[in-house]
Amino acid sequence: MSKSKMPETTLADLSLADKTAVKKPSIEARRFSDVSTCSFSSACFTGSSDEEETSPKDRKQRNSNGSSDFCVKNIGKHSFGRREIEIAEQEMPGIMTLRKRAAEDKPLKNAQIVGCTHINSQTAVLIETLIELGASVRWAACNIYSTQNAVAAALAEADVPIYGWRGETEEDFWWCLDRCIRHDGWQPNLILDDGGDATHLMLKKYPEYFKAIKGIVEESVTGVHRLYQMSKAGKLTVPAINVNDSVTKNKFDTYYTSRDSILDSLKRTTDIMFGGKQVVVCGYGDVGKGCAKSLKGQGCIVYVTEIDPICAIQAAMDGFRVVRLNEVVKNVDVVITATGSKSVVTRDHMNRMKNGCIVCNMGHSSSEIDVHSLHSAELTWERVRSQVDHVIWPDGKMIILLAEGRLVNLSCSTISSFVVSVTSTTQALALIELYNSAPQRYKSDVYLLPKKMDEYVASLHLSTFDAHLTELTEEQAKFSGLSKAGPFKANYYRY
Ligand SMILES: NC(=O)c1ccc[n+]([C@@H]2O[C@H](COP(=O)([O-])OP(=O)(O)OC[C@H]3O[C@@H](n4cnc5c(N)ncnc54)[C@H](O)[C@@H]3O)[C@@H](O)[C@H]2O)c1
Repeated sequence: MSKSKMPETTLADLSLADKTAVKKPSIEARRFSDVSTCSFSSACFTGSSDEEETSPKDRKQRNSNGSSDFCVKNIGKHSFGRREIEIAEQEMPGIMTLRKRAAEDKPLKNAQIVGCTHINSQTAVLIETLIELGASVRWAACNIYSTQNAVAAALAEADVPIYGWRGETEEDFWWCLDRCIRHDGWQPNLILDDGGDATHLMLKKYPEYFKAIKGIVEESVTGVHRLYQMSKAGKLTVPAINVNDSVTKNKFDTYYTSRDSILDSLKRTTDIMFGGKQVVVCGYGDVGKGCAKSLKGQGCIVYVTEIDPICAIQAAMDGFRVVRLNEVVKNVDVVITATGSKSVVTRDHMNRMKNGCIVCNMGHSSSEIDVHSLHSAELTWERVRSQVDHVIWPDGKMIILLAEGRLVNLSCSTISSFVVSVTSTTQALALIELYNSAPQRYKSDVYLLPKKMDEYVASLHLSTFDAHLTELTEEQAKFSGLSKAGPFKANYYRY
C-alpha cells in the first residue's frame, strides 16, 4: 500500500474535551450484562465437546508456568484457543496497529484493569493489546453463555488471570468477577465493563476500591444507562466513558453487523435460498437498513414498515416498498423485526402468514414478535434444530420461528472480528485517555468520545481497504475552518 501523506494523528493529539448528552434507553435486567448487545458467538464453540462433570471451580488446574490464578473449563485446550486468537488478529487491523504503535510508549504502564466482557477470540486480542501496552489485567466473562472455552484456556496459559467458562451459573459468574476484583497485592485502577456488572459489584462490595479508580469504560447500552442513572443520583465517584454511543460503535456495530449477520443467521438456521424471496423488514433504523440492504443484494424483494416519515422516505428512496405489515403478511417468505418496540408482529399477523414463513427478530426486545401468544393449546411446537422451532397450526400450516424471537444474529450467527476491532480500539483508546489524563481533567461524570478519537479509530482501519484519504490543502482548510488533522465534522454531524 502506498504511504498516505496525511498528517498522522497521534495519541497525544486526541483529547476527550467534549461531553455530550446522550439519549437514555430504558432497559431493566436482573443482571445488567444479560442484555449486553455485544454477545459474540463463534465457530470456536467448545462448551460441550470438552465437558467435565465437575465445575472448574472445584478443579485445581495449572498452566505450563505453574500458575493457578485462573479458572477456565479446560486448560488443556489452550493451543486450539491460541489459533483462534491468531485468526482474529488477522481480521483486527485497528487494534493490532494500535498495539504496534503504542507498544514502545507503554501508555498503560502500571495500569491495573479489571475487565468484564465477553471472553472470545476477539476480546482476547483486546486483552493482550492492553497487556502489551503495559497494563496488568484480571478478567471475567460478562455473559454466562458466550465464553469460548479454548480461548479462555489460551489466555490462562499466557498467564492472564482469566475467570469464566461457557455455561457457568449465575453464582459462578459472581464468584469469577469477585476473584478478579479482589486479589492480594493487586488493586484495580481502571474498569472495562460490558453490562455494568464489574462496576456494580465493586460499588456494592468494595466501595473503598473506587478511591484508586481513574475511570470506567463501558460499552453496552444497559451499562451506559446505569452509569447515567448513577451520575444523576450523585453516586458516580469517578469519570466514565460511554463507548456505546461513539460514532464508530453505532455506525459499525449496528449497521454493518446487521448487514453481515442477517444473511448468516437465516442461512445457518434454515438453509434458505434468498433470490426472489419476499421479505418484510419492520423498522428502517440502522439495523433495518443493514438487513434490507443485504437482502436486496441477494435478490430478495424487500418491503419495509415504518412509523417515522423520515425513515419511511429514506426507505422509499433507497428503492424499497414502504407498506403496512397487514398488506403483505399473507405473501411474504420472511418477516424480520428491527424496531426496538413491542408486539410489532402479533398473533393475528402470524395466523395470516403462509406456510413456511420464517419469522425472526433483530431488535433488542424479545417481545417484538408476540411469541407468548404462540404458546397456546391449539398450536404445536417442534424444535427442529438448535434455535429453530416449527410452530404448527391445526390445519397443518407451519411458521419457522428463529431463536424464540430473541436477537437472531446474536443467537445464531457470529460478529465479524473487523467490527469488533473498531469497538476494541475505541475501548483501548478510552482506557488510555482516562489513565493518562491530568487529575482534574474529568469530573465524576459520563463522557463521550470526541470526533477526533472516532476519526483516529476509523483511520487505523483504512489500510485494510488500501483506502487513501485526500488531504485538505491549506487553502481548503482555511476556507472550511478546519484543521488539516481533523476533526473533520462538528459533533452534531450524523454521518
Ligand atoms: N441485532 C443487533 O446486532 C443489534 C445491533 C444494534 C442494535 N440492535 C437493536 O435493534 C433495534 C433497532 O436498533 P436501531 O439502531 O436500528 O434503532 P433505530 O431507533 O435507529 O431504528 C428503529 C426504527 O424502527 C422504527 N419503528 C419503531 N416502532 C415501529 C413499528 N411499530 N413499526 C415499524 N417501525 C417502527 C423507528 O421509527 C425507527 O426508525 C434496537 O432494539 C437495538 O437495541 C440490534
